[in-house]
Amino acid sequence: MSYVALARKLRPQNFDELSGQEFVVTTLKNSIEMGRVAHAYLFTGPRGVGKTSAARILAKAVNCLDPQGTNPCNKCDNCTEITDGTSMDVVEVDGASNRGIDEIRELREAVRFLPIKCKYKVYIIDEVHMLTEHAFNALLKTLEEPPDYVMFILATTDAQRLPATIISRCQKYDFNKIPFDIMYDALAGALDSEEITYDKDALNLVVRNSDGCMRDSLSLLDQIIAFTGGKLDEQSTSFLLGFSEKSLVDNLFAHIIKEEPDKIPSAIEELSAKGVNFTFAAETIIGHTRNLLMQLMTGKDSKELTSKENEYYKDLAKISSEHKLYALFQVFQKLLNDLKFFNFEQYIFEFAMYKATNIASVISTKTISTGGTSTSKPITAKKPMAETSSKQTLSSTDMEMQSIVSALEKAEHASISSMLGHGYIVHITDGTLTIGFSAEKKFYFDFVNRAQNIQILNQVIPAAFDKIQNVKTILEQDTKKKA
Ligand SMILES: Nc1ncnc2c1ncn2[C@@H]1O[C@H](COP(=O)(O)OP(=O)(O)OP(=O)(O)O)[C@@H](O)[C@H]1O
Ligand SMILES: [Mg+2]
Ligand SMILES: [Zn+2]
Repeated sequence: MSYVALARKLRPQNFDELSGQEFVVTTLKNSIEMGRVAHAYLFTGPRGVGKTSAARILAKAVNCLDPQGTNPCNKCDNCTEITDGTSMDVVEVDGASNRGIDEIRELREAVRFLPIKCKYKVYIIDEVHMLTEHAFNALLKTLEEPPDYVMFILATTDAQRLPATIISRCQKYDFNKIPFDIMYDALAGALDSEEITYDKDALNLVVRNSDGCMRDSLSLLDQIIAFTGGKLDEQSTSFLLGFSEKSLVDNLFAHIIKEEPDKIPSAIEELSAKGVNFTFAAETIIGHTRNLLMQLMTGKDSKELTSKENEYYKDLAKISSEHKLYALFQVFQKLLNDLKFFNFEQYIFEFAMYKATNIASVISTKTISTGGTSTSKPITAKKPMAETSSKQTLSSTDMEMQSIVSALEKAEHASISSMLGHGYIVHITDGTLTIGFSAEKKFYFDFVNRAQNIQILNQVIPAAFDKIQNVKTILEQDTKKKA
């Protein structure tokens, strides 16, 4: 198989092949359709998301001899010359290597001459933020009064470094990182058309490790395909991405969730022996906590994770609770912060890991202390948790909320229970318990307020408490909060 690097082979040649830049594409197409092309464009956005490609497509679209709608034909002389980089009328200037005023001065001279074959003389200035101040000034002069047949397309990853005077003379288009799904589909399509077999998990890893940069994902694919001799599998992908270190952290996190303090020392020893950076480990663990929380709350697999990873979280979710994860999150967040400010990284890391492994005892000592008085009437538990404690009378709203929350937990509705914990009792009138959420807790309100969750509340709570026949939730619009 003669293999041409995907990254080079797959440059988009018309607007429709440009993935994930819908806004830019639609606007450019519209302006071409209405015959309202500007004389100066500025394409900004992260690396490798299609700025240069879009600039070339636009140059072709305005000069094509046989346009297909708003797209260039890619067959006529003008199109093919522009694609090959041999057109006399479409000039690409690399701002990074031509920082000097001379090139821009030359350019100022050159724009005075009519295009040779094309309708528009197009100057694509890449990495325009690299130009020197003098060069900017020279460019500005040209941008001020460009001849009708001249079009500038400036591209940059760093628009903030451009003088405002330049920006204000251009039509500005912001390019985005390519969203996960769109990149996944684009790469899957490319692999299919190249007849390269791939496994979904491997492709998923590639997309995730490219941070929205299409060029990176393509060159990563190239690397893996070269390594395996023509396929994309999870094992090679993980290997090339250096995931063996990550799997050490995965084990450590599993020990924390499983509350296995005796396994912690050797897990940390191993990390340390492999030279894994503790900040990286802490960040990875925070990511795990977040993913586990999502798994627990939604009960669904995440599309952005591999099936193996989803399995990993699903297993751990069985033995986690949201309370615990919130508490863990705080421990890890503090750890990350401490790692920045203190020496003895390993000690700090170890200490946090032990604390995390024992988090259950840390939380339970906290929740015992509850105080405060209340104006609302106490509610009585209908079904006592143990045979010995019959009717339970509580005296503070906090405690009532607590007993409602734990009734749900007992009934194995952990996620609703911990979400409900963010609300407060507004009142209990005529058998209706109203639970309020302050406006900033809307996230929790929305979750609790889903039809199936409301249904669960209405089953579990009236069954557990005498005075309550049904349950309602409200979202406070003002900043009223529980006392
Ligand atoms: N939106 C996209 N759709 C499809 N392929 C893309 C897209 N963006 C980038 N690519 C792929 O990445 C390669 C590089 O893209 P391009 O040079 O257009 O990016 P860029 O935004 O100009 O990057 P840089 O800022 O680094 O110059 C292209 O040849 C193409 O294979
Ligand atoms: Mg570019
Ligand atoms: Zn053409």
